[in-house]
This record gives sequence, C-alpha cells and structure tokens, in this order.
Amino acid sequence: MAAKKITRRQAITAASAGALGTMVNWSMPAFSVGTPQEKLAINGGTKVHELPWPQWPVWDQSAEKNITDMLRTGKWWRGDGEYVADFEARYSELMGVKRCLATASGTTALITSLKALGVDAGDEVLVSPYTFIASYNVIFMNKALPVFVDTDPETFLMDPSKIESRITDRTTAILPVHIYGLPVDMDSVNAVAQKHSLKVVEDACQAWLAQYRGKKIGTLGDAGCFSFHNSKNLPAGEGGAIISDNEALMDRCHSLHNCGRPFGTVARTSSYPISGANFRMQQVQALILMSQMNRIFRDADIRLANAMFLDTRLKDIPGIIPYKLAPGAERSAYHLYPFRYISKEFDNVPRDKFIRALNAEGIPCSSGYGRQNRDGLIEDTLNSRGFKRLFSESRLKQWREENVLPGNDQLCSEAVTFTQNILLGSINDMQHIIDAIAKIWRNRDSLKQ
Ligand SMILES: Cc1ncc(COP(=O)(O)O)c(C=O)c1O
Repeated sequence: MAAKKITRRQAITAASAGALGTMVNWSMPAFSVGTPQEKLAINGGTKVHELPWPQWPVWDQSAEKNITDMLRTGKWWRGDGEYVADFEARYSELMGVKRCLATASGTTALITSLKALGVDAGDEVLVSPYTFIASYNVIFMNKALPVFVDTDPETFLMDPSKIESRITDRTTAILPVHIYGLPVDMDSVNAVAQKHSLKVVEDACQAWLAQYRGKKIGTLGDAGCFSFHNSKNLPAGEGGAIISDNEALMDRCHSLHNCGRPFGTVARTSSYPISGANFRMQQVQALILMSQMNRIFRDADIRLANAMFLDTRLKDIPGIIPYKLAPGAERSAYHLYPFRYISKEFDNVPRDKFIRALNAEGIPCSSGYGRQNRDGLIEDTLNSRGFKRLFSESRLKQWREENVLPGNDQLCSEAVTFTQNILLGSINDMQHIIDAIAKIWRNRDSLKQ
C-alpha cells in the first residue's frame, strides 16, 4: 500500500489527537504527544515545572571573610588599597589583554572609552538598537548623536551589511552590542571601521567569556566594555571594566575615570591635565568580583551545555526559532537565552499570551527589548537647546526619516527570553522548558478565547 502523503504539521496534530498508530515510517518528535485530558496551567491545569529555579547572585564564604577584613582596615577606596588593581590584573589575564580598568559601572566604562577615543560634541556614533538603554545614552552623554543600524532578526545583532549606508562625515565610532552575550560578526564591523577610519567600542556588558574566532569578546575593537551589575553573569552589585591592548588609550581612560588626574602617558601638565570624572570602582566591588570569578568557568559551561540542549530541541517545535550565531561566533555568554516566537504557527495566539501561558507552566520568561529607537527620551534630546546647536535642522530631519528599522521592529515583536539563572538548572529543568512550550503548542486552541 502506498504511504499517504501528509504534511509534518498534519502529522503532529494527528499525533496529539491520539492517531499516532496510523502513522507509518514517520519518526514523531517527542513534543507532539499529549494526553487527551491535558490542560494548560493558565487554564487551571497542572504546571509542567513546580520547583524553584536557581537563585542569583550566589555568594561564598571566602568573600565574607575578605570583605570583613578589608572593612576593618578602613581602606575602602582604590587609592588606599590593592584589591581593585588585583582584580584588573586578574580580569585582563582572563580576557587575554594587556590592560583592564575597573569602573563604577558598565555605563561609566562606555562613557569613558568613547571619550578617551575622541568622540566629541557634534559627532555621530553608529549603535545597535536592540539593547539596553545605556548603549545609546552613553553617546548622548558624550554630546554625540546615536545613529541606529538595523538588527538582523535571526542573530538579534547589528546587521553589518547595514552599517555603511549610515555613515556621514560626522561619524567617528561604531558601538556594536553583543546583546545577551551573542557575539557580533566583528570582522565585518572592523572592516567597515577600517575603511572609514572609525573607532570601535564593543558593548560587551552582557558578554563575559563569549568567544569569536578564538578570541574573547571585548578584545576585538579598540576597547571592550563590561558590566558587573547584580543581575550579570559576573556580579558585584554594581561595577564595570574597560579592556584594551592600547596602552596610551588605557592611560587616558584611567585618567578620565579618576577626575582627570595624570596617569602613565597622560602628561603631568597640571594636577588635573584633562577633564574627567569620578568613575572609580570601590575595593568591596573588586573583592566580590574576585570571589565570583572562582565560579565563572563552571557556570559558563553549564549555561552553554543547557543552551545547546535547548537549541537542538526547541527548533523542532513549529513557530519557535532559536537565535542564530553570527558568522565567526563560537560561543555566547548566554546572559539571556533568546528565541523568536512566530505567532501564526500558534494559530495567531499573541506573544504576550504565549508568555503568560509559559509563566503559568512554571517557566519564567519575558519579551526582551522594545523599539528603543522610538524611545521618547530620544526626541526630547534631539529637541533640546544643546542638540539644536550641535546638529542642523536638516540633519535631524534626515535622522528621523532614516530611523526606520524593519529588522529590529520584527525582532521586538517576536523575541522571548530566559534569564541566565534559568540556564543554571538541570537537564531535567531544560526538558521542562521544552515540554511546557510543546504543551502550549498542542493546546494553542485553548488560548484563542
Ligand atoms: C548591553 C548593556 N550595555 C550597557 C549596560 C550598562 O551597564 P551598567 O548597568 O553596569 O551601567 C548594560 C547593563 O545592563 C547592558 O546590558
């Protein structure tokens, strides 16, 4: 008898209706089989995942003793103690670079490195729009204009093929963001930067230990910036760092972050030769960071293994498309694990409802970033007195006309993310994520009302 030709979708639906026995020579994906009594948790059914997820951050006893000892010395700022410098040495070794400067936060690391690279009032900086607000606020803080480069929805990252058309005679730098820890295609970014003599600052604030063509993310541009906020994979409450092999640049960064005091090659023309600010890291932050570094490799490996498990299984569920690594990217940091939700494959159940249903099954998730390029603060800044002095009316008009980012808009409407602590769960926990999404897919009909 000739096998009846059926589509994969028909097969999955038939299987969930209990018709599995009628399928010949067809290997059914595990997610397609439910029970007739199955009910989504959002509709009063039993949750797929009952237990709590790993908490974050996690501290250890060694940090407690070191912090107490430091506290008793009264040497709490970097000028009096050695711990911030110790952390800088350890972090530069971890990253494989000559220099690291610890800062108060990722934001201050970005402000400092842009300024040290010469970004000035009236300049333009090309930046990823799919990011945390700080990535473009730091450009405004340097009195420059952030110009958004559209996102490739498949990689969640700046699309390098869209960079060149956004360059003007005022463009001085590119700020690619390795969002969620996913490495940007830095060869392509650097090629455009070189052609047009632009500086490159990597926003690696979510990308500790991420890897691109054998190198650590953050080491591929002129400078790389990191955040150590409480939520981050390497946390210290607050904190940040700049890394680079460029000694003169790092001297300038050091001077800038220390109120403009001379440092290294920054000439001692006066007590404060350049205009800087206080962006220094505290001793206590450095001690927490050094204790957290003891677990960073183990945690990163667990996240990677779990992410790879999710990658291979989630893609089999219709309408679920995990992130794609950009060319040259070898390893993400998985600050978040992202995928795209294609609602038409779930019979047009809106993403928000899918997220609520997944949360109800005991799987915390959220919708990622919104359309930041339309953020109200941008218009407020463009309309400010200072900005109108720095940029002509015709340039700002053109900026508004070109602020159309279809790839980014698409991603903002489709993205769903899991935070990094979820990825520290067991393989069984990961299987629950797959099971819960598959359960929602099978019962998508019940979400339509
Ligand atoms: C992509 C990105 N850039 C910059 C920052 C700013 O870092 P911080 O919060 O340490 O100032 C963050 C922090 O969340 C971030 O995620």
